[in-house]
Amino acid sequence: MKAPSSSSETEQFERIRTEVFETPDAAVGRVAQRLAKLIRSRAAMGQRVVLGLATGSTPVKLYRELIRLHQEEALSFRNVATFNLDEYYGLSPEHPESYHRFMHDQLFRWVDLSPESTHVPDGTVPRAGVFAYCAGYERQIAEAGGLDLQILGIGRTGHIGFNEPGSGPDSRTRMVALDRLTRRDAARDFRGEANVPAYAITMGVGTILEAREIILLGWGEAKAPVLRDAIEGPATATVPASFLQHHPNARCYLDRTAAGELTRFRYPWKVGPVRWDEPLTRRAVVWLANELRKPVLRLRDEDYSENGLSPLLVETGSAYGLNIRVFNRLQHTITGWPGGKPNADDSHRPVPAEPARKRVLVLSPEPLDAELGMAGTLSRLVAQGHEVSLVHLTSGNLGVPDGEAKLAVNLLKAAAQQGGTAGAGQTGWPHELEQELESKSPLDEDSAGLRRFKGLIRQAEARAAARVLEIAASATVHLNLAFYERGRYRQFRTAEDDVDRVAALFRQLQPHQVYLTGARSEPNSVAGIAFQLFRSAWARNRTEPWARSCQVWLYAASERAWSPDEIEMAVPLSPAELLVKLDALCQYRSQRNQTPFFRDMGGELWQLAEDNNRATAQAYDRLGLAEYEAMETFRRWRVTDVE
Ligand code: GLP
Repeated sequence: MKAPSSSSETEQFERIRTEVFETPDAAVGRVAQRLAKLIRSRAAMGQRVVLGLATGSTPVKLYRELIRLHQEEALSFRNVATFNLDEYYGLSPEHPESYHRFMHDQLFRWVDLSPESTHVPDGTVPRAGVFAYCAGYERQIAEAGGLDLQILGIGRTGHIGFNEPGSGPDSRTRMVALDRLTRRDAARDFRGEANVPAYAITMGVGTILEAREIILLGWGEAKAPVLRDAIEGPATATVPASFLQHHPNARCYLDRTAAGELTRFRYPWKVGPVRWDEPLTRRAVVWLANELRKPVLRLRDEDYSENGLSPLLVETGSAYGLNIRVFNRLQHTITGWPGGKPNADDSHRPVPAEPARKRVLVLSPEPLDAELGMAGTLSRLVAQGHEVSLVHLTSGNLGVPDGEAKLAVNLLKAAAQQGGTAGAGQTGWPHELEQELESKSPLDEDSAGLRRFKGLIRQAEARAAARVLEIAASATVHLNLAFYERGRYRQFRTAEDDVDRVAALFRQLQPHQVYLTGARSEPNSVAGIAFQLFRSAWARNRTEPWARSCQVWLYAASERAWSPDEIEMAVPLSPAELLVKLDALCQYRSQRNQTPFFRDMGGELWQLAEDNNRATAQAYDRLGLAEYEAMETFRRWRVTDVE
């Protein structure tokens, strides 16, 4: 098989044809139309279509659009047969996290697919029968005429289906062990890594590559690095999705954030002429310094010209002026005064000096997010006399494992008994909670009461963290937005009344600064929804006088340290301040890694935050700027980003 040639100059580094859309909705609209056309044209000829389907949060929007086409535009699935990629091993079809259940809830029950024409691998086949079962699954696909079109998502390990790193291009349907990162990503759905199955049954890479057409979907910044590897890197079993490069009719449909690491977006000067505005100039100089492992001020003319950056020199004439300009820009992003430095010249500072005392609104999608991103900055803002409101948008109760709730209930009952109340602990809420916790499996849905209780645990942790950061109790708000209570795991949808509540918060506080995160997150995630709520609420307020002078700052999510060229404000942390931050994070005891098995992954959230903050300080240091212990990082969000 031969890879298709790129259709444009800008795509020259891409080995899988890739279409990039402003939003996932736009991408999904196009893919749904492609599917509808295929289904209808086959139906007109009296023929069947065989679709390969995927699970995960990525295709959910596509399934919603297909359901809409079925309900509103009479798209029928009567001539469609489906084969799903994979299933967790050991889960029955009724299990809340089984892919059977997922497909039923997200698509099958809403359209006119007959049950006999849908196929999802069976996770309950006895161990001894798995090999024969998998061969049978392959046979069924072949007997149906082979897959006409396969839909794929991608895991952060580069897996497709559950073909983890190490899966070769000829692999077939089989049982596999799940990678640790995959299990960590799934931990959310299973309420803790300990509950994530260790094995799965998946179609092989070879099975997938036999589909006549393949569409891989990807949204959100978290997928950007692995998508770059799959699309632009070598075809290798280390990134199984990269084998799509061998397929003559495979395409990636990405949103802009998922495509963000592709050369045409990250390093556009490598693919064609560019307009050298300030941000791009900065990016190129930082890239060059990193490539050559040199501080910015030591870059020479030859370094630029030998690395394809001569056009950049034309403007300034020499590396000298350019280096100084970029160095100063980087220097000016560093400030110990995130709320502005009173009575100081602020012409080169990220934040204006006036008013000296600012109203600051910090939005945290779930309790802990803001602390991970900006605990040090929060305590600085408080210490520097600003009026800080820390607003936790959701209760965070989905992230509290049953074990933590059991511990708290136990304590409540013991305390009541010690208090000497007759019959204490035998009735009332703690007793009901105990009964529920005793009888449920960790995967059963929590009752509304248990969710409320778990929310209280997370609130108590948030209060403990706020105490460490010296944020007054009255300055912390728990909004408990409805979208979170209605949604599940990775699939949330905005609720209109939530926009009202966030908009009301803006009107009430009239902030000079807003801090939030999630601008580049997967749109159905909690952080993604929180960001959309902010945008809608902002749009309603944008003409208000306070909004016109309000600065909106995005803090870094915990997953990836930003490169200095992406940063518009870096707040340094001294060794002592970093310890205070870690102390605050450790107050969220329900958010610690629950299984010792994962200890060696360094996967604790506080560790990731520490690593990222240290990595940023080192990145600045390598560019020749001052060497700090750690740094928290921010980017401006501007109202023009709305349009
Ligand atoms: C699971 C599925 C994959 C899916 C991946 C990404 O591992 N087996 O098919 O692509 O998750 O999930 P999400 O779309 O939720 O990011």
